[in-house]
Amino acid sequence: MTHKKSAITIDDLGKRYLLGSGGGERYRALRDVIVNGITGLFKRDRSQQEQKEFWALRNVSLRVEEGKSFGVIGRNGAGKSTLLKLISQITEPTEGEIRLRGRVASLLEVGTGFHPELTGRENIFMNGSIMGMTNAEIKRKFDEIVDFAEIAKFLDTPVKRYSSGMYVRLAFAVAAHLETEILLIDEVLAVGDAKFQKKCLSKMENVSASGKTIMFVSHNMASVKNLCSKCIWLDSGRVKMIDDADKVIDSYLLAGEEMGAQKVWNDQDAPQNSWVKMRSVRLLNESEEPAANFKTSEPVLIELVFEVADDGNRIVTGYHMFRRGTFLFSASDQDHNEEKNIRYGKGVHKVVCVVPANLLNYGEHNLEFVIGVNNAQIKTGEVLSFRVFNDYPTEWLGEVRPKLEWRI
Ligand SMILES: Nc1ncnc2c1ncn2[C@@H]1O[C@H](COP(=O)(O)OP(=O)(O)OP(=O)(O)O)[C@@H](O)[C@H]1O
Ligand SMILES: [Mg+2]
Repeated sequence: MTHKKSAITIDDLGKRYLLGSGGGERYRALRDVIVNGITGLFKRDRSQQEQKEFWALRNVSLRVEEGKSFGVIGRNGAGKSTLLKLISQITEPTEGEIRLRGRVASLLEVGTGFHPELTGRENIFMNGSIMGMTNAEIKRKFDEIVDFAEIAKFLDTPVKRYSSGMYVRLAFAVAAHLETEILLIDEVLAVGDAKFQKKCLSKMENVSASGKTIMFVSHNMASVKNLCSKCIWLDSGRVKMIDDADKVIDSYLLAGEEMGAQKVWNDQDAPQNSWVKMRSVRLLNESEEPAANFKTSEPVLIELVFEVADDGNRIVTGYHMFRRGTFLFSASDQDHNEEKNIRYGKGVHKVVCVVPANLLNYGEHNLEFVIGVNNAQIKTGEVLSFRVFNDYPTEWLGEVRPKLEWRI
């Protein structure tokens, strides 16, 4: 029993989506509805056939005490963003209840931010008023926000012209500075540069010290540990553990739950048969550095290292790409040249597939690797995970976002 008041009380919360509909429902920020300008062409609801049900979140109950920081962790697709979207009322719960004490400011995933046609200045005022602030209150905070975001020069530019970095800086500054009692922050910080991420984390510490309640989603365990006293670990939409942040994070890391941008197998665990053995897989950016976050305008390099026991086998490598649970495409080294079935001799081989810039849409992507050898196959299951961020602040419908030639 605690005598402290709860800022956030959640009872038996559940959210059900329809699988394969690529969105189930179009979530839409309140501010989009107010401004009412969102481009109809890409935002229109589509009629869809009956699809399989899927619970993104279920039976989640928790309390966050006033003035505390609460972490949310779990592997990709665990339901973290869904939880924050529900709390910020961007989407409706299918079941259960959420009670909040105070106003909420949030910095969530793409599609929930500013209005693209409005300038930085206009967006600050619009956000403030949506959060229930008076004009005088917003004016008082205005300079601090602009200063923190480092966008003074671009204040009167529509935010659709901002780089993703500028956009996130402004969005964070607004959420953190406005006078709300509760602050929700999703992973988005990952797009900022390292210096800005640090600045945001220390701002959150200040905000927390000043008595605001914070809910913080991150894959960066060090930041969660640093900022949060309590933490929830979500696993496939269910609560795996709620406890002191230190305990939860230790268990999470021990369980090796975090699907990352790299996987190295040891001899016994490696997917293998008598002809081939997987060694490692990883994701690289254009400069061939390991990376887990990509912009839509960047290529994604996918590397597979494997070992072949003997000469003379017919071997084909490839992978399956998934986006938010949807099978996007498969790729194979058979596309490498006209000569089908490249022959890999005895020894260790490295292949890299380049997914071109301007093909993937935003969101979490997972990879499963496959090696076909003679008439058998070895598969890794989904082992790698990465996220793609929009270069522009608008949400784009569809599983991919190809940049095509237009003849006009
Ligand atoms: N609008 C939607 N329609 C259908 N399914 C959805 C929708 N939004 C999310 N999902 C699915 O719900 C599950 C939970 O998604 P969510 O975005 O909450 O995960 P997450 O924990 O935030 O993951 P990540 O760490 O990658 O951000 C995922 O399987 C996702 O594909
Ligand atoms: Mg998320």
